[in-house]
Amino acid sequence: MAPAQAHGVPVVPDSSIVPEAVRNGIDVEINGEHFVHTGDPQMPLLWYLRDLLQLTGTKYGGARGENGADLVLVDGKPVPAITLPMAKLDGKTVTTVEGLAAHDGTLHPLQQAFIDEDAIGCGYCTPGWLIAGVDLLKRKPQPSDADIDQLPNTCRCGCQTRVRAAIKRAAAGKAGQA
Ligand code: FES
Repeated sequence: MAPAQAHGVPVVPDSSIVPEAVRNGIDVEINGEHFVHTGDPQMPLLWYLRDLLQLTGTKYGGARGENGADLVLVDGKPVPAITLPMAKLDGKTVTTVEGLAAHDGTLHPLQQAFIDEDAIGCGYCTPGWLIAGVDLLKRKPQPSDADIDQLPNTCRCGCQTRVRAAIKRAAAGKAGQA
């Protein structure tokens, strides 16, 4: 085939451009579903969740995830989703806030406790608190105030006191009770 022409001048392909090798997919399980990511391996998990999967519960928590709003569980450990490129997730299991409730829609006890204690203001920080709280309750089934205060999460609506109460309610097995 003759080379393409622009205004009568043949267009010569730039020989410095090396075609990218076909990428192998990155296999990742998210909330119990298997996904294969074949796009940019450096894409942060946060954008994959929010922009590609439309799982928008996980929020932007700062460039290094410093306010905790983008926490997700990776192989059971809380990690800021903005800090994780997809390349590091091959073979991993991710749980987001959308994956905390049971398949029949029954809320996780900590989710229910947040409702019971009215621990939600605007809600921006809530998914991160829930992920951090689920991990805390797994590590320390009866956490102290100090344990809760050490979580990396912040709340601009001033819900920290009610968040504490919610985590303690869940720890006491009283979620959903009067
Ligand atoms: S509820 Fe609004 S930032 Fe926490």
